[in-house]
Amino acid sequence: MKFNMLFSPIKIGGVELKNRIVWTGHGTGFGNVINNNIIAYNVRRARSGVGMIVVGYTSIHPTCRLLPNELICWDDSVIPEYKKLTSAIHKYDTKIVSQISHIGRQGGSDYSGSHLLAPSSISDIVYQEVPKEMEREDIQEIVDSYGNAARRVTEGDFDGVEIHSGYGGYLIAQFLSNYSNRRVDEYGGSLENRVRFAVDVINNVRKKVGNDYLVGMQLSGDEFTPGGITIEEAIKIAKIVTDTNKLDYLIIKAGTYFSMNTIVPDFQHPVGMLVPFASAIKAEISNTRIGTVGRINDPAYAEQVLKEGHADFIGVCRPLISDPDWVKKARDGNSEDIRYCVGCNQGCEQYLFKVRGISCTHNPEVGRESEYDEENVPRAAIKKRVMVIGGGPAGMKAAEMCARRGHTVALYEKERELGGNINLIKKIPFRDEFGGIKRFLDNRLRKLDVDVNTGVDVDEKMIAGSDPDVIIFATGAHSTRVGNRQYGADGNIDGINEKNVVTDTEFLRNLDKDDFTSRFRGNVMVVDGGENHWRSIGTVVHLAEYSREITYVTPGPFVGHRLPPLSLPPLLQKLYNYSNISLMPNYMLDCIKENSVVVRQLFNNKEHILEDIDMVIVSMDRKTNDSLYFRVKEMYKDQHKRIVRIGDCLAPRDTLKAIHDAYTVAMTIQ
Ligand SMILES: Cc1cc2nc3c(=O)[nH]c(=O)nc-3n(C[C@H](O)[C@H](O)[C@H](O)COP(=O)(O)OP(=O)(O)OC[C@H]3O[C@@H](n4cnc5c(N)ncnc54)[C@H](O)[C@@H]3O)c2cc1C
Ligand SMILES: Cc1cc2nc3c(=O)[nH]c(=O)nc-3n(C[C@H](O)[C@H](O)[C@H](O)COP(=O)(O)O)c2cc1C
Ligand code: SF4
Repeated sequence: MKFNMLFSPIKIGGVELKNRIVWTGHGTGFGNVINNNIIAYNVRRARSGVGMIVVGYTSIHPTCRLLPNELICWDDSVIPEYKKLTSAIHKYDTKIVSQISHIGRQGGSDYSGSHLLAPSSISDIVYQEVPKEMEREDIQEIVDSYGNAARRVTEGDFDGVEIHSGYGGYLIAQFLSNYSNRRVDEYGGSLENRVRFAVDVINNVRKKVGNDYLVGMQLSGDEFTPGGITIEEAIKIAKIVTDTNKLDYLIIKAGTYFSMNTIVPDFQHPVGMLVPFASAIKAEISNTRIGTVGRINDPAYAEQVLKEGHADFIGVCRPLISDPDWVKKARDGNSEDIRYCVGCNQGCEQYLFKVRGISCTHNPEVGRESEYDEENVPRAAIKKRVMVIGGGPAGMKAAEMCARRGHTVALYEKERELGGNINLIKKIPFRDEFGGIKRFLDNRLRKLDVDVNTGVDVDEKMIAGSDPDVIIFATGAHSTRVGNRQYGADGNIDGINEKNVVTDTEFLRNLDKDDFTSRFRGNVMVVDGGENHWRSIGTVVHLAEYSREITYVTPGPFVGHRLPPLSLPPLLQKLYNYSNISLMPNYMLDCIKENSVVVRQLFNNKEHILEDIDMVIVSMDRKTNDSLYFRVKEMYKDQHKRIVRIGDCLAPRDTLKAIHDAYTVAMTIQ
């Protein structure tokens, strides 16, 4: 066994876990009550051997609905449904606990249909809705609700209960933190007073579940919030709550909605960023197990964290969303086969914010586990010869899945390397992690012995020559110099073909050529056509260390408005801290006249002329690379041949959709 410590059993309270890997609680948006999708989603990870599953955010009271599609547990009707889930998980010798949660002020009455409750009537920074300051009766009612929810958890045959909201700026944390608690009664002011609500909840939960039942809680190691909890205070809080002798574990997380990015840290944060906080708390606590979580992707690193004594167990959330077999692969010594989470937050966290079920950029099975299972892919009834044209993420995924279904697959890529746009994205150093998507698919294709042909620009002649049964076009899209509808019917922009203008992909393609990049040492303008995503913004961040002045122009209402929300704070911190970056949201490019660029304010239509611009990088419309597809379709018009398009070649979108298209189409090839 390579990771002895990670796979050693651990006793937490009265419960023994077979290993030290805990799939930490997370909202999924899969429904208000346990349903078949939720069961299949959890069973898939239990099957891989995870030690314990924490079922995420579950509202204990009608005043605390985080989102309308999240779990609720405020009456006994949930118990029979709980039993279905817990009995399914227990077949795999995995323990399962349920979070019981209250968001306090960090929500909206639009979702709950009820006013919000909080220690003080101060709105939070995101929802900006003033909550009701909790009166004594409210405090009593919510403490009771926690207890009743905990009782339902026991009756639903869970192995334990996790008291949620001690971190992330949710209700218990709101009491704990000076940032949100301005009370002058015995629940506010001194630390002892601010911890009182948490202790009331812990006492009542313990009373309802009995002495032997597993009870855990989360705490923030640091709220990263002005006036909020710091590690020094977190240690004191941890001591008070564990001195009750009523908690079996603490898991150390971070943040409030002020510092939302630290709640689910994306690729802009270092791996294991919260380990030092768990470590500091563990050093002071002896009667309670301490868990750490947060970008612990690699089992080797997880092992190191345990060996160095920073924590008793390791929490992983997105790593198991991205690869349900993470545990099995780590245990069997196949870590190189893990589909590592790339920290993009595009499918998981962002979908939750879109009030839909979560997904994953490179795991299309998330939320569809009852339908799809890559470990048991149904073999196709008839073995077909499948030709996949284009070796970007869509083509690579299609080739992988078709091969797994038993087809004979040949994949063609005109560049020397597979990967498509991922090769461009990862050229920007701070986006290197996105390259993990390509690395994973490359490895899969090698293991499946797919006939991979690089450096081959496929044309009709080649296709006619090999005459495959199925042709999948995954030829992607290209960045154009044409603007979207804001620029009138033809989308033309005067001066966009000047010699000092390049598209984003031209820029990235040539990033390793000194004579090319030296042209960008002066004043550079990056123009977004409306996508306002990493395609343009990634370039700005990169240029900050390189160019004299950079101006970013976007018609978006603010910079990065279409990025996953939790990616914004660290991004904006970077952009606003560079003195050589100017940001111009609500502006669009009007025309380029040599070294002058005219932009126009969207709402008053006023012109603004920027002089002395040496180079302009444009991220305008993307256009499908579909001409070969249409020619081949015409060539075979009298034959019943399956010819399909996927990914950006079908419609330019993002990597998630490209990979999901590929997966879905591959499953339909019989
Ligand atoms: C700069 C930039 C940043 C981006 N950032 C993000 C991001 O942060 N997140 C995100 O989700 N998406 C991002 N995208 C979008 C994402 O890259 C695409 O949606 C995704 O790559 C589409 O995958 P695909 O396989 O359909 O196409 P591509 O990745 O474009 O791959 C198509 C492949 O087909 C090959 N090909 C074309 N014609 C032929 C032919 N005749 N014969 C053989 N091969 C051929 C091409 O060489 C290419 O390798 C970004 C795009 C760009 C340009
Ligand atoms: C989509 C999503 C939803 C989450 N919801 C919750 C939640 O309901 N309760 C909770 O305690 N943590 C929640 N988290 C935080 C995770 O449990 C975990 O602390 C965080 O993702 C960092 O760990 P990771 O890097 O292993 O993903 C959520 C994370 C994600 C990605
Ligand atoms: S969507 Fe991105 S961050 Fe979320 S689990 Fe998948 S790879 Fe990780």
